[in-house]
Amino acid sequence: MFKLNQNYLKLPGSYLFSTVGRKQREYEAAHPDKKVIRLSIGDVTQPLAPAILEAMHKAVDEMGHAETFRGYAPDLGYEFLRNAIAKSDYQDRGADISPDEIFVSDGAKCDSGNIQEIFSLDVKIAVCDPVYPVYVDSNVMAGRTGVYDTKTETWSNVIYMPCTAENGFAPEIPRETPDVIYLCFPNNPTGSAITKDRLQEWVDYAGKVGALIIYDAAYEAYISQEDVPHTIYECPGARECAIELKSFSKNAGFTGVRLGYTVVPKDLKCQGTPLHSLWARRHGTKYNGAPYIVQRAGEAVYSQEGKEQLRAQVAYYMKNARVILESLKGAGYTVSGGVNAPYIWLKTPDKMTSWEFFDCLLEKANVVGTPGSGFGPSGEGYFRLTAFGSYENTVEALERIKNM
Ligand SMILES: Cc1ncc(COP(=O)(O)O)c(C=O)c1O
Repeated sequence: MFKLNQNYLKLPGSYLFSTVGRKQREYEAAHPDKKVIRLSIGDVTQPLAPAILEAMHKAVDEMGHAETFRGYAPDLGYEFLRNAIAKSDYQDRGADISPDEIFVSDGAKCDSGNIQEIFSLDVKIAVCDPVYPVYVDSNVMAGRTGVYDTKTETWSNVIYMPCTAENGFAPEIPRETPDVIYLCFPNNPTGSAITKDRLQEWVDYAGKVGALIIYDAAYEAYISQEDVPHTIYECPGARECAIELKSFSKNAGFTGVRLGYTVVPKDLKCQGTPLHSLWARRHGTKYNGAPYIVQRAGEAVYSQEGKEQLRAQVAYYMKNARVILESLKGAGYTVSGGVNAPYIWLKTPDKMTSWEFFDCLLEKANVVGTPGSGFGPSGEGYFRLTAFGSYENTVEALERIKNM
């Protein structure tokens, strides 16, 4: 008789965004006359930039001719893309990363969920609280997180690093020493950023205690302040202790196209074994590469035209972020984020819980956001709005919230 992976049965409740989606659908079904505006899930709304479309069309045509047709992509990704990534995202910023340390994939969600496979089942992970849920849930599925306490909404074998107003929503070094530390900056959900000096402290700490940092930089394109690092490899020592995850979803609107990459430097070793060779083995065994057409689209992200068009796209979303921040401040809310990230993190008014505020916003303003408590216990009493809507919808949503 077959048996199930019992770890899956330990996963609590339904996924945060399914619940948010269900509540929105139920409300819309009951109130068909209302126009609900969704500022919840971190999905983009602007169309693909012209330079990207052009590259995709060209690649599609190539696939229609025997001489230029491509089948399986190379395991780690096409060189034209890895060279462009290494140059623009790393070498031009003074970070020493070579093309053969880059593993192209179909997005950062898969990579952030899969990366834990190469670690022993008894490593102890540390996560920010609140946190992008994939880091924890993928470790639950692997059986690494211990027992779930429904009261505290925490796992017994996970180190939680609270990110609160007091520490500027950036974690402090935990008292207990972790083996694997997940950091995400600019942060989802709080929209906070980390300065280079603070990130250097993490790199130094990981180097000292022999921990590994998994650094999710999916929102790097939204950084606007000088002292915020664009990659962890700007910090000396990171090549020996950090893996970096990147996505094309938020900087180039590839949420539906699908493309990302993971950097595993060759200096990163565990008792002499390079993690690079383990991840290459995993990639080669379980993954057959992002599509040629998509990788050509990714290459166009780094062309002069592509860079200019995408800068404008990011600026469009960040204009929304400013509307949200300023309108909420004007209405007396306590807000943060929205400067180096497309997320605004607000404190719920009148001591409402995150879900109470969700219901209140849906009913009174017909606006959907994301309850902070869905990202972890320290998110209780907070709420996330995203800048990924259209400008018109964002302005209308904020007018409604101000008039609530
Ligand atoms: C922190 C973070 N990492 C990764 C992802 C997923 O990126 P991708 O679309 O490349 O899978 C998201 C998406 O919302 C995210 O917020």
